[in-house]
Amino acid sequence: MALSLFLTLLLILHIAPPSQQQHDHKINAVDLAALAAIKSTLTDIPGSNFFSTWNLTAPDPCSTFSGIACSLNRVSTLTLGTGLSGSSGLAGSLSPSISDLTELTQLVLFPGLVTGPIPPQLSQLTNLRVISLTNNRLTGSIPGSFSSLRSLHTLDLSYNQLTGSVPPSLTSLPELKVLILASNSLSGELPAVSAQLLHLDLKNNLLAGPLKKLPSSLRYLSLSRNSMRGPLNGLALLSELVFLDLSMNQFSGPIPAGLFNPTLSSMFLQRNNLSGRVPSKLIGDPTTSASSYGGGSIVDLSHNFLTGELSPVLAGVESLFLNNNRLMGIVPWEYITSVYEGTTRTLYLQHNYLSKFPLEPGMELPDTVSLCLSYNCMVPPVGLASCPASAGVQLSRPASQCSVFNNRSNID
Ligand SMILES: *[C@@H]1O[C@H](CO)[C@@H](O)[C@H](O)[C@H]1NC(C)=O
Ligand SMILES: *[C@@H]1O[C@H](CO)[C@@H](O)[C@H](O)[C@H]1NC(C)=O
Repeated sequence: MALSLFLTLLLILHIAPPSQQQHDHKINAVDLAALAAIKSTLTDIPGSNFFSTWNLTAPDPCSTFSGIACSLNRVSTLTLGTGLSGSSGLAGSLSPSISDLTELTQLVLFPGLVTGPIPPQLSQLTNLRVISLTNNRLTGSIPGSFSSLRSLHTLDLSYNQLTGSVPPSLTSLPELKVLILASNSLSGELPAVSAQLLHLDLKNNLLAGPLKKLPSSLRYLSLSRNSMRGPLNGLALLSELVFLDLSMNQFSGPIPAGLFNPTLSSMFLQRNNLSGRVPSKLIGDPTTSASSYGGGSIVDLSHNFLTGELSPVLAGVESLFLNNNRLMGIVPWEYITSVYEGTTRTLYLQHNYLSKFPLEPGMELPDTVSLCLSYNCMVPPVGLASCPASAGVQLSRPASQCSVFNNRSNID
């Protein structure tokens, strides 16, 4: 049927009146047949009208079909779906005929209900720089043959139902900068990454095993909500990171000192098995312990096994979560100053073994601050509680649990 449409179209192009010929954008015949095949396996969900412009007998698909851009007479970008916020998207499946669009550099599928596998034939499209097929219901595994996509810069397959492992050939593609496979059901271990990636997001999958080699080029790394374990040593050299989320795994051992770096202004390591101390000075700036974290910074180390006294290094963080650890001693004045001055707006210290929050008489903290001190080895100063419900109702930890920590830091 696609073929007969295609023949009809050829006929129409040949008899097109002169006024049409000034465009002369006759689309390549193979590309036109591919578009017909692509349309035949997809439909608009009611509420979407993406394919309404795809009149396969119209003279100039390159300038009339929505979602298509051509270079000369070849389709160079294909964007399936309108992407409008109210649009319901497309249903159906992706046709292997996409691989006939051999000049394609960009393939985008907007959110919808498209099912079935990612056609492995896409790996023939060696000019592809961008593949983005997010928020649909794609199943099956990521084709290992994607290793032939030597020009690929961005691969985003997030929010689908993909299974299997992350092909090692994928994480070594020479041009790959952005790899987003978040919110699928990918399992196995994360292979070593040798591509010069800037952005790696694999959150919310079923990945296990340890962290292997990661490139120092990374600026954004999320592996949150997997089952990964082992030490974080491999992160010590990632000096370009600005966003790190490894929360809700089973990583263990100390947090590398190099991660306490104000450039890394969003750090989420909560709900792991991390232990050891937060360093007392910023690396690279051994002369000062003053923190230069500030507006917009967020550090969440809660629900781990961190020990020792609070480090002044984190005192200037805007939203700081250190609750549910084994921290002890007096809260350093840097923290109190930072809360008083409004630099720190959220400070959760509940469920530790802290012995004192030394507020000077007459010092009033801003009303807007969220400060929680409950369930420590002290009675929090009156009127200072703004705890989440999860902190529980007990203001102090039972004294019997505090005696071990009853050292010099508990003396006024
Ligand atoms: C498709 O294009 C052809 C040729 O321009 C035209 O005759 C026909 O009416 C169009 N069909 C629709 C549904 O617009
Ligand atoms: C994490 O800590 C818990 C509690 O101490 C322990 O049962 C578990 O075995 C640890 N897991 C790993 C992977 O270290």
